[in-house]
Amino acid sequence: MSQKGKLAPSMMCADFLNLEKELRVLEALDIEYLHIDIMDGRFVPNITLGTDYVKKMKENTHIPLDIHLMVQRPEEKLDWFEFGAGDYVSFHYEATKHVHKVIQAIKSRGAKAMLAINPGTPLSVLEEVVDDLDGVLVMSVNPGFAGQKLVPQSLDKIRRLRAMYPQLDIEVDGNVNFENAVKMREAGANIFVSGTSGIFEKSGTLESNAEKLRKCIE
Ligand code: DX5
Ligand code: ZN
Repeated sequence: MSQKGKLAPSMMCADFLNLEKELRVLEALDIEYLHIDIMDGRFVPNITLGTDYVKKMKENTHIPLDIHLMVQRPEEKLDWFEFGAGDYVSFHYEATKHVHKVIQAIKSRGAKAMLAINPGTPLSVLEEVVDDLDGVLVMSVNPGFAGQKLVPQSLDKIRRLRAMYPQLDIEVDGNVNFENAVKMREAGANIFVSGTSGIFEKSGTLESNAEKLRKCIE
Protein backbone atom coordinates (compact mmCIF):
# COMPACT_ATOMS: atom_id res chain seq x y z
CA MET A 1 0.00 0.00 0.00
CA SER A 2 1.30 3.45 -0.88
CA GLN A 3 0.11 5.42 2.16
CA LYS A 4 2.26 5.15 5.31
CA GLY A 5 0.28 4.12 8.40
CA LYS A 6 -0.37 7.14 10.66
CA LEU A 7 -1.46 7.30 14.31
CA ALA A 8 -4.24 9.60 15.59
CA PRO A 9 -4.59 9.14 19.38
CA SER A 10 -8.16 9.77 20.54
CA MET A 11 -7.70 12.62 23.02
CA MET A 12 -10.99 11.95 24.78
CA CYS A 13 -9.16 8.89 26.16
CA ALA A 14 -6.09 10.82 27.35
CA ASP A 15 -5.35 11.36 31.03
CA PHE A 16 -7.05 14.73 31.61
CA LEU A 17 -5.11 15.19 34.87
CA ASN A 18 -1.75 14.86 33.06
CA LEU A 19 -2.64 16.25 29.65
CA GLU A 20 0.41 18.47 29.08
CA LYS A 21 2.77 15.63 30.03
CA GLU A 22 1.04 13.25 27.64
CA LEU A 23 1.07 15.87 24.88
CA ARG A 24 4.85 16.20 25.12
CA VAL A 25 5.22 12.41 24.96
CA LEU A 26 3.01 12.30 21.85
CA GLU A 27 5.17 15.01 20.27
CA ALA A 28 8.33 13.03 21.04
CA LEU A 29 6.69 9.97 19.45
CA ASP A 30 6.15 11.89 16.17
CA ILE A 31 2.43 11.25 16.35
CA GLU A 32 0.85 12.45 13.09
CA TYR A 33 -2.57 13.72 14.30
CA LEU A 34 -4.43 14.42 17.55
CA HIS A 35 -7.94 13.00 17.11
CA ILE A 36 -10.39 15.29 18.89
CA ASP A 37 -13.91 13.90 19.32
CA ILE A 38 -16.53 16.63 19.45
CA MET A 39 -19.97 15.36 20.45
CA ASP A 40 -23.13 17.49 20.83
CA GLY A 41 -25.40 15.13 22.76
CA ARG A 42 -27.79 15.20 19.75
CA PHE A 43 -26.07 13.36 16.92
CA VAL A 44 -24.65 10.98 19.54
CA PRO A 45 -25.87 10.52 23.16
CA ASN A 46 -22.69 11.90 24.69
CA ILE A 47 -20.82 15.18 25.18
CA THR A 48 -17.00 15.13 25.21
CA LEU A 49 -14.44 17.75 24.17
CA GLY A 50 -15.31 21.28 23.09
CA THR A 51 -14.31 24.51 21.37
CA ASP A 52 -11.94 25.68 24.14
CA TYR A 53 -10.17 22.29 24.11
CA VAL A 54 -9.51 22.64 20.37
CA LYS A 55 -8.26 26.23 20.92
CA LYS A 56 -5.93 25.06 23.72
CA MET A 57 -4.52 22.29 21.55
CA LYS A 58 -3.95 24.68 18.63
CA GLU A 59 -2.08 27.04 20.97
CA ASN A 60 0.05 24.40 22.68
CA THR A 61 1.24 21.81 20.17
CA HIS A 62 2.54 21.59 16.62
CA ILE A 63 0.83 18.20 16.08
CA PRO A 64 -1.91 18.67 13.45
CA LEU A 65 -5.46 18.22 14.71
CA ASP A 66 -7.94 15.66 13.39
CA ILE A 67 -11.26 17.13 14.56
CA HIS A 68 -14.09 14.58 14.44
CA LEU A 69 -17.41 16.43 14.49
CA MET A 70 -20.12 14.13 15.77
CA VAL A 71 -22.65 16.96 15.72
CA GLN A 72 -25.99 17.65 14.05
CA ARG A 73 -25.86 20.26 11.24
CA PRO A 74 -22.05 20.78 11.21
CA GLU A 75 -22.58 23.60 8.70
CA GLU A 76 -23.89 25.71 11.60
CA LYS A 77 -20.97 24.92 13.94
CA LEU A 78 -17.82 24.75 11.86
CA ASP A 79 -16.88 28.37 12.61
CA TRP A 80 -16.95 27.69 16.34
CA PHE A 81 -13.65 25.79 15.98
CA GLU A 82 -10.06 26.87 15.37
CA PHE A 83 -8.40 24.91 12.59
CA GLY A 84 -6.38 25.54 9.42
CA ALA A 85 -3.74 24.23 7.06
CA GLY A 86 -2.51 20.74 7.96
CA ASP A 87 -5.52 19.93 10.12
CA TYR A 88 -8.17 17.37 9.20
CA VAL A 89 -11.83 18.09 9.94
CA SER A 90 -14.32 15.25 9.61
CA PHE A 91 -18.10 15.48 9.81
CA HIS A 92 -20.82 12.87 9.47
CA TYR A 93 -22.73 12.21 6.26
CA GLU A 94 -25.71 11.31 8.48
CA ALA A 95 -25.68 14.71 10.25
CA THR A 96 -26.37 17.14 7.43
CA LYS A 97 -28.33 17.73 4.21
CA HIS A 98 -25.42 19.85 2.91
CA VAL A 99 -22.48 17.46 2.52
CA HIS A 100 -20.91 19.22 -0.45
CA LYS A 101 -21.28 22.65 1.18
CA VAL A 102 -19.56 21.54 4.41
CA ILE A 103 -16.66 20.03 2.48
CA GLN A 104 -16.19 23.32 0.63
CA ALA A 105 -16.38 25.29 3.90
CA ILE A 106 -13.66 23.15 5.53
CA LYS A 107 -11.37 23.48 2.50
CA SER A 108 -11.98 27.23 2.23
CA ARG A 109 -10.20 27.52 5.59
CA GLY A 110 -7.17 25.62 4.29
CA ALA A 111 -7.88 22.39 6.17
CA LYS A 112 -8.35 18.89 4.76
CA ALA A 113 -11.91 17.58 4.51
CA MET A 114 -12.91 14.10 5.63
CA LEU A 115 -16.39 12.57 5.48
CA ALA A 116 -17.27 10.19 8.32
CA ILE A 117 -19.70 7.33 7.74
CA ASN A 118 -21.37 5.17 10.38
CA PRO A 119 -21.32 1.37 10.22
CA GLY A 120 -24.81 1.31 8.70
CA THR A 121 -24.08 3.87 5.95
CA PRO A 122 -23.19 2.45 2.51
CA LEU A 123 -20.11 3.55 0.54
CA SER A 124 -22.41 4.69 -2.28
CA VAL A 125 -23.05 7.96 -0.40
CA LEU A 126 -19.50 8.99 -1.31
CA GLU A 127 -20.04 8.87 -5.08
CA GLU A 128 -20.86 12.51 -5.74
CA VAL A 129 -18.27 14.05 -3.36
CA VAL A 130 -15.29 11.69 -3.13
CA ASP A 131 -13.29 13.76 -5.63
CA ASP A 132 -13.64 16.77 -3.30
CA LEU A 133 -12.53 14.79 -0.23
CA ASP A 134 -9.05 14.39 1.22
CA GLY A 135 -10.16 11.41 3.30
CA VAL A 136 -12.98 9.17 4.48
CA LEU A 137 -13.49 8.17 8.11
CA VAL A 138 -14.90 4.65 8.37
CA MET A 139 -16.48 4.25 11.82
CA SER A 140 -15.65 0.76 13.08
CA VAL A 141 -17.97 1.28 16.06
CA ASN A 142 -21.21 3.23 16.36
CA PRO A 143 -20.04 6.72 17.35
CA GLY A 144 -20.35 8.18 20.82
CA PHE A 145 -18.28 6.17 23.27
CA ALA A 146 -14.80 4.77 23.74
CA GLY A 147 -14.35 1.16 24.81
CA GLN A 148 -16.78 -0.39 22.32
CA LYS A 149 -16.27 -3.54 20.22
CA LEU A 150 -15.46 -3.59 16.50
CA VAL A 151 -18.43 -3.86 14.12
CA PRO A 152 -17.08 -6.85 12.13
CA GLN A 153 -18.35 -5.81 8.68
CA SER A 154 -16.22 -2.63 8.94
CA LEU A 155 -13.18 -4.57 7.71
CA ASP A 156 -14.82 -5.56 4.44
CA LYS A 157 -16.10 -1.99 4.05
CA ILE A 158 -12.52 -0.65 4.35
CA ARG A 159 -11.37 -3.26 1.82
CA ARG A 160 -14.05 -2.24 -0.72
CA LEU A 161 -13.32 1.46 -0.19
CA ARG A 162 -9.58 1.00 -0.70
CA ALA A 163 -10.18 -1.03 -3.86
CA MET A 164 -12.27 1.84 -5.29
CA TYR A 165 -9.99 4.69 -4.23
CA PRO A 166 -6.29 3.68 -3.99
CA GLN A 167 -5.04 7.22 -3.21
CA LEU A 168 -7.63 8.28 -0.61
CA ASP A 169 -6.77 8.68 3.08
CA ILE A 170 -8.88 6.08 4.90
CA GLU A 171 -9.16 6.66 8.62
CA VAL A 172 -10.67 4.06 10.97
CA ASP A 173 -12.11 4.99 14.36
CA GLY A 174 -13.20 2.59 17.07
CA ASN A 175 -11.69 -0.43 18.86
CA VAL A 176 -8.35 -0.03 17.09
CA ASN A 177 -6.59 -2.48 19.37
CA PHE A 178 -3.35 -4.27 18.46
CA GLU A 179 -5.15 -7.23 16.91
CA ASN A 180 -7.74 -5.21 14.97
CA ALA A 181 -5.15 -2.67 13.75
CA VAL A 182 -3.37 -5.40 11.78
CA LYS A 183 -6.64 -6.44 10.10
CA MET A 184 -7.62 -2.81 9.43
CA ARG A 185 -4.22 -2.13 7.86
CA GLU A 186 -4.46 -5.27 5.71
CA ALA A 187 -7.92 -4.10 4.62
CA GLY A 188 -6.45 -0.78 3.50
CA ALA A 189 -6.82 1.81 6.28
CA ASN A 190 -3.90 4.23 6.67
CA ILE A 191 -4.91 6.54 9.56
CA PHE A 192 -5.72 4.86 12.88
CA VAL A 193 -7.72 6.49 15.67
CA SER A 194 -6.66 4.80 18.85
CA GLY A 195 -8.06 5.31 22.32
CA THR A 196 -8.58 2.96 25.25
CA SER A 197 -8.08 -0.03 22.96
CA GLY A 198 -4.60 0.89 21.84
CA ILE A 199 -2.37 3.85 22.57
CA PHE A 200 -4.06 4.71 25.90
CA GLU A 201 -4.42 1.03 26.88
CA LYS A 202 -3.90 0.88 30.65
CA SER A 203 -1.49 -2.08 30.85
CA GLY A 204 1.16 -0.28 28.75
CA THR A 205 2.75 3.16 28.56
CA LEU A 206 2.17 5.68 25.76
CA GLU A 207 5.64 4.86 24.47
CA SER A 208 5.26 1.06 24.57
CA ASN A 209 1.72 1.16 23.16
CA ALA A 210 2.71 3.49 20.31
CA GLU A 211 5.67 1.29 19.43
CA LYS A 212 3.44 -1.81 19.42
CA LEU A 213 0.77 -0.07 17.35
CA ARG A 214 3.28 1.20 14.79
CA LYS A 215 4.41 -2.41 14.22
CA CYS A 216 0.75 -3.37 13.59
CA ILE A 217 0.23 -0.67 10.96
CA GLU A 218 3.53 -0.59 9.09
C1 DX5 B 1 -16.22 6.74 19.10
C2 DX5 B 1 -14.96 7.31 19.69
C3 DX5 B 1 -13.98 6.20 19.96
C4 DX5 B 1 -12.72 6.66 20.58
C5 DX5 B 1 -11.69 5.57 20.49
O1 DX5 B 1 -17.11 7.78 18.86
O2 DX5 B 1 -14.43 8.24 18.77
O3 DX5 B 1 -13.69 5.61 18.72
O4 DX5 B 1 -12.26 7.79 19.96
O5 DX5 B 1 -11.86 4.79 21.60
P1 DX5 B 1 -11.54 3.21 21.64
O6 DX5 B 1 -10.12 3.02 21.17
O7 DX5 B 1 -11.72 2.88 23.07
O8 DX5 B 1 -12.53 2.59 20.73
ZN1 ZN C 1 -13.58 9.90 16.66
